[in-house]
Amino acid sequence: MTDLNDHLSIIVVGASGHLARTKVLPALFALFCQGFLPRHFRILGYARTPLSDDDFRRTVEENLTCRYTPQESCAERMGEFLARCTYRGGQYDSAADLRALGPALAEAHDGQPDNRVLYLAVPPHVFLPVARALGDAGLAQAPTPDTWCRVVIEKPFGRDRESSTLLTRDMETVFSEEQIYRIDHYLGKEVIQNLLVLRFANAMFEPIWNRHYIQSVQITWKENVGIEGRGGYFDETGIIRDVMQNHLLQILSLVAMEPPPRLDATHIRNAKVNALMCVPPLTPDNLVLGQYVATNRGGLSIPGYRDDPSVAPDSRTATYAAAALHVVNARWDGVPFLLRSGKGLDGRLSEIRIQFRPVPGRMYVLPNGAPNELVIRIQPDEAINFRIWSKVPGLETQLELRDLDLQYKTAFSQLIPDAYEDLLLDVLRGEKSLFIRGDELAAAWDIVTPVLHDIDQNQREPTTYEFGTRGPASADELAARYGVLWHLQ
Ligand SMILES: NC(=O)c1ccc[n+]([C@@H]2O[C@H](COP(=O)([O-])OP(=O)(O)OC[C@H]3O[C@@H](n4cnc5c(N)ncnc54)[C@H](OP(=O)(O)O)[C@@H]3O)[C@@H](O)[C@H]2O)c1
Repeated sequence: MTDLNDHLSIIVVGASGHLARTKVLPALFALFCQGFLPRHFRILGYARTPLSDDDFRRTVEENLTCRYTPQESCAERMGEFLARCTYRGGQYDSAADLRALGPALAEAHDGQPDNRVLYLAVPPHVFLPVARALGDAGLAQAPTPDTWCRVVIEKPFGRDRESSTLLTRDMETVFSEEQIYRIDHYLGKEVIQNLLVLRFANAMFEPIWNRHYIQSVQITWKENVGIEGRGGYFDETGIIRDVMQNHLLQILSLVAMEPPPRLDATHIRNAKVNALMCVPPLTPDNLVLGQYVATNRGGLSIPGYRDDPSVAPDSRTATYAAAALHVVNARWDGVPFLLRSGKGLDGRLSEIRIQFRPVPGRMYVLPNGAPNELVIRIQPDEAINFRIWSKVPGLETQLELRDLDLQYKTAFSQLIPDAYEDLLLDVLRGEKSLFIRGDELAAAWDIVTPVLHDIDQNQREPTTYEFGTRGPASADELAARYGVLWHLQ
C-alpha cells in the first residue's frame, strides 16, 4: 500500500520571482539534501512569465548551493531535485489556467492523493485572486483524514488593521485559519528561535526578566543600503509596515510574553497575543520618522531616497522609524521598549539589547555608570553577549565592562539553516509555532494603525538624515525622554 505521506506537491505561485528563486526553491533543495522531503515530491512553478521546464530549471539551479551535500555528489543531487521541478505559465486570477495543473499533478503521483503546499510568492494584491482561482480550480483541497493542503503567504498582510482583517476574512472563504501559514521569516531565524530557550531553559533569566531588574529594551533593525531601484513596493509601504509592524513587534512579543503553559503552537501564540494586547497604540509623539538624503563619500556621490528613479520625487515615505512603546502589565509596567528600523544607515544589524537596572546600594563606582546588558544579535554574526562588570587583573581595583560571549560561529560547528529551511520544514510538519496567527496579526496592527492613519491624514514629513549615518538626531531625543541612550552601533 502507498504511504500517503510519500506524496507531496509544492505549487509555487510567482515562481519567476525573487523570493521563489532565491529563498523558497533553495530551501526546498536544502530539505531534499537532508532527507526531509518525501519519496514522491513534485515542485510545480507557476507565474505569468512564459518559461519552459528547462528555462525554469536553469533559473532554479542558479540559486542552489551545495551547503548540505558534499561537492562530489552535489551535481547528482541537483539533477535529481531539478527533475522534480516543472513549470506552467498562466494568469493569477484564471481558474482555467490553474486547472491545467491538476492533471499534471495526478500524473506525477500516479493518481495517488497528495499532500499539498501552495506557496504564494506573489505581491500581496495578488493573494486573493490567486487563492480564489486555486479554490475554483480545485487545487485548494480541503483537508481529509489522510491528506492536508496548506497555503503559505508572506508579509505584508494588509496595510492596516482594517485591510488586514478584510484579507484574513476573504482568505478564509477559500482556506481555513488552520490551513494558512503566515510567514514572517524573522521568526525562522536561529537566534530568534533561541529566545524562548534562553528565557525558559536557563534558571537565571526568568527571575530577573521584569520591571524590577530590567530598565529598558532596545530592538534594532538596520541596513546600510538604500532602496537601489527597488522603490515600487517600498514607497507604497514604508518602514513601519515593512519592518516594524511585523519583524520588530514579533520580537517584542517574544521578549515580553509570559511563560506559555506548554511549548506548543497554541500556547506560544496565545502568550504572544496577550503580550501584544498589553501594548497601547503607538502615538505620534512617541515616533520619529526619517528619510535618507544624498551624501558624498570620498568623492562618490550616493543618491538620496527621493533621487531614486523608482521613487516619487516628493515621496514622504519614511525609510527610518524609531518608536517608544510600553507593555502595560505587571511584568513590564514602566519599562520602555524602544524600537528602531531604518535603511541607508551606518551599518547592517539586527539585535535586541536588554539593559538592566543599576545595582542597589551602588557599592562600586562604575565608570560612566553603564548598565549590565544582555545583547542578542540576530544578524550579522549571530551571538548572545552578557555584558558584566569585571575587575581588570592588577594590583588596583579597576572595573571594566566585559562580555560573556556566545558567538555562534565559534561555539557551534553546525551550519546555521536559512530561516526558510526551518519554516518550510515546519509547514510540512504542520508545526505552527513560528507562523503568525490571525489574532496575533490583528493585535500587531492595532499598535501601529492609528499612527499610520495619522501620518497619512496629516501628510507628516519625515526628518531627513544623511545616507550612511545613525539616522535622525531626534531619535536620540526620543530615547533620552525615557532615560535611555541608544546603543551607538
Ligand atoms: N524577496 C524576498 O526576500 C521577500 C521577503 C519577505 C517578503 N517577501 C514578499 O514575498 C512576495 C513575493 O516577493 P518577491 O520578491 O518574489 O516579489 P517579485 O519578484 O516582485 O514578484 C514575484 C512574482 O510575482 C509576479 N508579479 C510581480 N509584480 C506583479 C504585479 N504587479 N501583478 C501581478 N504579478 C506580479 C511576477 O511574476 P510574473 O510576472 O511572471 O507573473 C514576479 O516574478 C511579496 O509579497 C513580498 O512582499 C519577499
